[in-house]
Amino acid sequence: MQVLKLGGSVLTKKNGYMELDRKNIDSLAEMLGGAWKSGVRDFILIHGAGSFGHPLVLKYGLEKGVRTEAQKGGMALTHAACTRLSQSVVDALLKNGVPAVAVPPASLGKLSNGRISELDSGIALSLLSSGFLPVLHGDMMLDEKRGGSVCSGDQLVSYFGKGAERVILGTDVDGIIADGKVVPLITKANVSEVLAHVKGAETADVTGGMRGKLEELLGIGKPAYIANALHPERIEKLLRGEKAVCTLVE
Ligand SMILES: Nc1ncnc2c1ncn2[C@@H]1O[C@H](COP(=O)(O)OP(=O)(O)OP(=O)(O)O)[C@@H](O)[C@H]1O
Ligand SMILES: [Mg+2]
Repeated sequence: MQVLKLGGSVLTKKNGYMELDRKNIDSLAEMLGGAWKSGVRDFILIHGAGSFGHPLVLKYGLEKGVRTEAQKGGMALTHAACTRLSQSVVDALLKNGVPAVAVPPASLGKLSNGRISELDSGIALSLLSSGFLPVLHGDMMLDEKRGGSVCSGDQLVSYFGKGAERVILGTDVDGIIADGKVVPLITKANVSEVLAHVKGAETADVTGGMRGKLEELLGIGKPAYIANALHPERIEKLLRGEKAVCTLVE
């Protein structure tokens, strides 16, 4: 199994407010439709929330927990927005011949202090082995300690990635960039040096942007490829086990 994440930075206008990037969604769905047709069917899809998540989390102050009635309303609204984004992604995939099924993480489990403590991955994995493409996404989930918390798509990648052969993360940059160049390989030997160049996101990102992503990837123990999903052919090559411009985190 492979895990593919498509960033909210690509699927949405991340500087907007609940705004899809229809062109990017369509071109990625078309690429995945072609790959699916040619037999690449061994992956689950996780996507980020982009402007359907981050701005709402900030608006309702959900970063540190969900306790008040207003925050509960905000959590429910944020979850609803994320599922709407997910449905748009699923609809585009269906149009391209991929039997995609949305699996909203909020109904699969719980977090504890922002980290997954309980998650039923069985449904997603059964869908995959039955010939469907399960589609999960960054979501608001119940949290045993904080009432509710953000579960980033990146954290879901790290959770599902532990059982995968490789993970591929499509975002809006060519990889991790240091001194103006893509870093081809990050290992224990150079990670602290590279981290000095890695920041959050330039847009609203409540889950740490590129730094948060890299931190999630370091714990997986599986090869993780960060590539530019604005070039769908790079993502397709990586799904096929071929080389493409990217950063490999080992
Ligand atoms: N050294 C770096 N190399 C590359 N990108 C970096 C670096 N430091 C910070 N970034 C920022 O990280 C951003 C990508 O992370 P971001 O969380 O916005 O994307 P995403 O994960 O695709 O979106 P989402 O979180 O909505 O799924 C880039 O657009 C860039 O602004
Ligand atoms: Mg992010």
